[in-house]
Amino acid sequence: MRIGTPLSPSAVKVMLLGCGELGKEVIIALQRLGVEVIGVDRYPNAPGMQVAHRSHVIDMSDAQALRALVEAERPHLIVPEIEAIATDELVRIEADGLATVIPTARATQLTMNREGIRRLAAEELGLATSPYRFASSLTELQAACAEIGFPCLVKPVMSSSGKGQSLLKSAADVETAWQYAQAGSRVDHGRVIVEGFIDFEYEITLLTVRSQGEDNDILTSFCAPVGHVQVKGDYVESWQPQRMNPLALQRAQEMARKITTALGGRGLFGVELFVKGDEVWFSEVSPRPHDTGLVTLMSQYFSEFELHARAILGLPVDVGQREPAASAVIYGRMDESGIAFDGVAAALAVPRSDLRLFGKPEAFERRRMGVALAAGSDTDVARDRAKLAAGLVQPVSMADEPTA
Ligand SMILES: Nc1ncnc2c1ncn2[C@@H]1O[C@H](COP(=O)(O)OP(=O)(O)OP(=O)(O)O)[C@@H](O)[C@H]1O
Ligand SMILES: [Mg+2]
Repeated sequence: MRIGTPLSPSAVKVMLLGCGELGKEVIIALQRLGVEVIGVDRYPNAPGMQVAHRSHVIDMSDAQALRALVEAERPHLIVPEIEAIATDELVRIEADGLATVIPTARATQLTMNREGIRRLAAEELGLATSPYRFASSLTELQAACAEIGFPCLVKPVMSSSGKGQSLLKSAADVETAWQYAQAGSRVDHGRVIVEGFIDFEYEITLLTVRSQGEDNDILTSFCAPVGHVQVKGDYVESWQPQRMNPLALQRAQEMARKITTALGGRGLFGVELFVKGDEVWFSEVSPRPHDTGLVTLMSQYFSEFELHARAILGLPVDVGQREPAASAVIYGRMDESGIAFDGVAAALAVPRSDLRLFGKPEAFERRRMGVALAAGSDTDVARDRAKLAAGLVQPVSMADEPTA
């Protein structure tokens, strides 16, 4: 793909479906390579829209609206940033040759539904996963939980960021978990997965890149493992590298290679794995940059966003790590629009620290509004610095400000 001039007939045009903080960084990376970027999200002034050439507000789960926009803009590449998209329409768009979907339309379809990706990983590819069952009613769920045993997790098949998930300790928890899953499901689908609880030592995201190699071969490269801490299914802290024993790392890379090869296409993937000693379990995969990979903005020569941008354009990648680093999330801590941030100077005075404030128009109590990054001589130092910096940033309500 030959790069031209944005906003001219030679432009390479990329449409981002989803303009959150991850999309914003991908857009910045594409902008730097001279690509014309069209941002799309369901609300105006989303973070990525603020740095795109132009943007559109549509319901991306509406197949007709999505098709109409793609026909009007005619992007070369469509880059999904979120899961909640009319992926059946992406399949048709790809089949009609309208645009290339990153990494492939089928990958977006399989990964938006826990059933699709779990069956591919466990049943077709034979990857180790937690034991699992699917259920579409309370009665089926009761039977499934009894088979899996307790503790177990119940998750809607269509959800992300921990929404609608519960940890069940006994049969007495099943009905509440069913109700909670129904309320937390992205679509009115009703179906859930039950997973046996894996008592892992630590969990990682293995950022895996499929890029253009020599001839027509695809090259698979692995970033150093990213360790992270999740609270209620949402990441609060991550660091790179996570130390792993060589056999576990080798197994993790084999699994990541298998699943990303099966999904195909070009781009960066976030492969989520659980580890205990030498044992590795596949959990799930994002066919796009991963939130825990925000740390790579500090830790690598090229961040996961730059690697994604290069890979999708057919350019070579360099996954080298520069130094140990960490990220810590900054939450909104209030439900309000147009908030301000105090303590930014204090946060940036922490040695080797940096910030990303995403510019989200509206804050919620548990909405991720920014992230603190820090480097250090090792990941413990980096984690302490990142947490310190994140804690110094104080969201401020403008409702409390005296008007001039
Ligand atoms: N079977 C399991 N055993 C033990 N812990 C689990 C299991 N499944 C999930 N978890 C924990 O819950 C977290 C969130 O689970 P999962 O990744 O499936 O949810 P998600 O909604 O897709 O989250 P996200 O979109 O943020 O990745 C995991 O990172 C892990 O910490
Ligand atoms: Mg996950």
